[in-house]
Amino acid sequence: MRVFVTRNIPNAGIKKLKSAGLEVIVSNKNDILTHSELIEQLKELNPDAVLCLLTDRIDKEVFDAAPNAKIFANYAVGFDNIDLSEAKRRSIIITNTPEVLTEAVAEHAAALIMSLARRIREADIFLRQGRYKGWDPLLLLGMELKGKTLGIIGCGRIGKRLAEIMHHGFGMKIDYYDQNQNEALEKELLAEFSDIDTLLSQADVVSIHLPATPETKHLINTGRLSRMKPTSLLINTARGSIIDEIALTNALKEKDIAGAALDVFEDELAVHPELLTLSNIIMTPHIGSATLEAREKMSLLAADNIISVLNNQTPQNPVI
Ligand code: DGY
Repeated sequence: MRVFVTRNIPNAGIKKLKSAGLEVIVSNKNDILTHSELIEQLKELNPDAVLCLLTDRIDKEVFDAAPNAKIFANYAVGFDNIDLSEAKRRSIIITNTPEVLTEAVAEHAAALIMSLARRIREADIFLRQGRYKGWDPLLLLGMELKGKTLGIIGCGRIGKRLAEIMHHGFGMKIDYYDQNQNEALEKELLAEFSDIDTLLSQADVVSIHLPATPETKHLINTGRLSRMKPTSLLINTARGSIIDEIALTNALKEKDIAGAALDVFEDELAVHPELLTLSNIIMTPHIGSATLEAREKMSLLAADNIISVLNNQTPQNPVI
């Protein structure tokens, strides 16, 4: 049986697929396949399983091009790139890679919070520009995190792990919003459950950990940004569509909030040009899960899901 992998991934997963006796074909384009290239490849290879990425739009046309594929194993925890209702209609199994990247993404969010609070990017640029003329009592003053409030919007695995890191490590107070109230979390971290608007108005740092859905699109918009404190910081390591980037650009320009850090963007292939001109934002290229550990485990988990389905077993991480 044949597996098509849409882009090179850490070898552990490929090795696992091969040692399960599967023929593995990895795309040899060292870049994202366009939608039509993906369709072309699938038509040519007719795979029994596809290991795809969050950058691949998996829709009706893609399913049509791979009529034998029983599973599309997404190499990501998010799966907003996949038309789930179409997959369900065709009884195609969709899986994702949760848990193994929780630590990596939470640590990246923590790194962004610390970098923003202590103005690390601005300080590095300042120094490299030769502007440092000796110790200065008023130079690049930042914000201490101890005792400040971290508002977490979406307190699933990643949001909860970030809450633990920032509460136990930095003594931050945790406010959270989630569809479900979590009493264990409240007890463990003295966290307070809150609606989104109250959370935004009270938090010193806000971090977003929601999936991209029609309901979360532009959840953070002009109105919501205006509720935030002028000293507050906004972090997004979830999905770009959750923040209205035009509204965020204006809020940063007007200093309605003090700073933002984004790892994800509304259009990841063309970051909003005005964001690039602002000094009170830190941007990273969707590297939340980019640790050697997480990416290797993601490859193993995606491989396991494929092996199970091709052996007529239930996969570990079905999305539908
Ligand atoms: C995911 O897995 O959905 C993440 O965005 C990857 O970093």
